[in-house]
Amino acid sequence: MSDATHRDFLAIPDFTRPELISLLDLAERMRKGEYTAKPLAGKSLAMIFMKSSTRTRVSFEVGTWQLGGHALFLSPRDVQLGRGEPIADTARVLSRYVDGIMIRTFAHSEVEELARFASVPVINGLTDLLHPCQILADLLTVKQHLGTWEGKKIAWIGDGNNMANSWINASYRLGFQLVLACPEGYDPDPATLAREGGKNVKVVRDPAEAAKGADVINTDVWASMGQEEEQAKREVAFAGYEVDKKLMSGANKSAIFLHCLPAHRGEEVAADVIDGPQSRVWDEAENRLHVQKALMAVLMGNEPLG
Ligand code: CP
Ligand code: NVA
Repeated sequence: MSDATHRDFLAIPDFTRPELISLLDLAERMRKGEYTAKPLAGKSLAMIFMKSSTRTRVSFEVGTWQLGGHALFLSPRDVQLGRGEPIADTARVLSRYVDGIMIRTFAHSEVEELARFASVPVINGLTDLLHPCQILADLLTVKQHLGTWEGKKIAWIGDGNNMANSWINASYRLGFQLVLACPEGYDPDPATLAREGGKNVKVVRDPAEAAKGADVINTDVWASMGQEEEQAKREVAFAGYEVDKKLMSGANKSAIFLHCLPAHRGEEVAADVIDGPQSRVWDEAENRLHVQKALMAVLMGNEPLG
């Protein structure tokens, strides 16, 4: 099932600004139940998970089914990739069976390699470098609760990780203000910052400075998947970076709190923030479903953009 004109989604900048806006409009129609087409009828999505997942796995699987298609969950225990079969060979073979491949893995270069050798669309379900599907969901959540991201200040508090890097990508494409408070040594990817940092993105050390007047306060775990052995060291480095009520009080009154989940209450976020009135994390998790359905409808189902 090869398609010479297929597109991948490995990173937010794979779409232009108008395309991103149009994609999120489609996702919004899906959220509101206004989209009932089945563009994936007779089509299959292979989902390769080299890391754990709750939201990504369930939302892609359910989303594929809701669009009329079928999804296959492939863990390293199930597929030969886990025993060392080359990524390029896996890409070529899967492309003969399925209409799209979603992959969550460690090195971003593995996703790029998969995309290079696959003849069907490849979707990045998280790498050590980026988490673009989550940022699409976060943007939809911002639109849902604040009306727009235009002119808003987004604050990132904590690790300059895959989420932070994808936020920088989004700021670069959409032009909102992004202030990231990261401890020294935990800045976002230097290449991403150098390429896309520009005038809209600022990295600071003081969480209160980032939170001041912000419309969105966003954080994530201090040790991402694959960094578990650094947990103790990171707890020391990230002391003072917990998003608590005091930090939230520096943001705009109408500010919302986002976290991609899973969360550690009492570490990167206080329980009374994530479970409090400004938290939108459950809508944010739900929005994974809608944005990924929009993505698959466009990439795999010939749904036009814009
Ligand atoms: N936010 C997110 O990607 O969650 P999972 O790791 O559960 O997929
Ligand atoms: N930064 C986190 C995100 C989890 C969805 C990780 O990579 O583990």
